[in-house]
Amino acid sequence: MSKVTIFDHPLIQHKLSILRDENTGTKEFRELISEIAMLMCYEATRDLPLEDVQIKTPMAPMTAKKIAGRKLAFVPILRAGCGMLDAMLTMVPSAKVGHIGLYRDEETHKPVEYYNKLPGDIEERDVFVLDPMLATGGSAVDAIQIIKRSHPRSIKFLCIIAAPEGIDVLSKAHPDVDLFCAAKDECLNENCYILPGLGDAGDRIYGTDVVGEVTIDKRGSTVKLHSKIK
Ligand code: PRP
Ligand code: URA
Repeated sequence: MSKVTIFDHPLIQHKLSILRDENTGTKEFRELISEIAMLMCYEATRDLPLEDVQIKTPMAPMTAKKIAGRKLAFVPILRAGCGMLDAMLTMVPSAKVGHIGLYRDEETHKPVEYYNKLPGDIEERDVFVLDPMLATGGSAVDAIQIIKRSHPRSIKFLCIIAAPEGIDVLSKAHPDVDLFCAAKDECLNENCYILPGLGDAGDRIYGTDVVGEVTIDKRGSTVKLHSKIK
């Protein structure tokens, strides 16, 4: 079975509470997704091997540490996974990026593939799949299946909120893939949305599919939009 790590770091938990709040607007939501992804990246890369290198500080020569030539690839699942990408690249600028386009069919809740572009040398790389939401697990399972066809060295899955159903489905389908999340929520509702969750991650990141009042502050920067998904 997959190793499942749930990050209980206070900074992550604090930011997650603001992220979930329906009064959090698009701009702040996007920033929080990025900040949480950056903190998760820090933890999820904890096992990268180090090697000794000889350097000279302005004061003295020394044996220092560098990451031992491991090549990484980040693969966001479109759209919402892209919200986590810049933060990951800030931490590991040398990583290559692939994209997998999947959307959930509204009736069946099954993922439908519409795009797939992975780095050509992915077989030399450790892959981190990015998606803020693991609900039924269908999108994650299919995305990882697509990536496995190109034989990467390893795959880890990073999400912000996971439903117990998704964790179960993913770890049974891909027991070799370790899963990292900031929260394991209670359940799915009848539309396969996570409860309590945060609504539709893609819509909240990109400000699509909204109802209700749009409020813009005096500087024109804070936009409050409310997700239709309850
Ligand atoms: C969301 C989310 C995941 C998927 C999770 O994407 O970002 O990819 O649903 O659900 P699952 O575990 O039941 O498959 P969505 O299909 O809404 O597409 P979007 O990112 O384009 O909004
Ligand atoms: N996708 C989302 O964006 N949110 C959910 O709760 C479930 C799937």
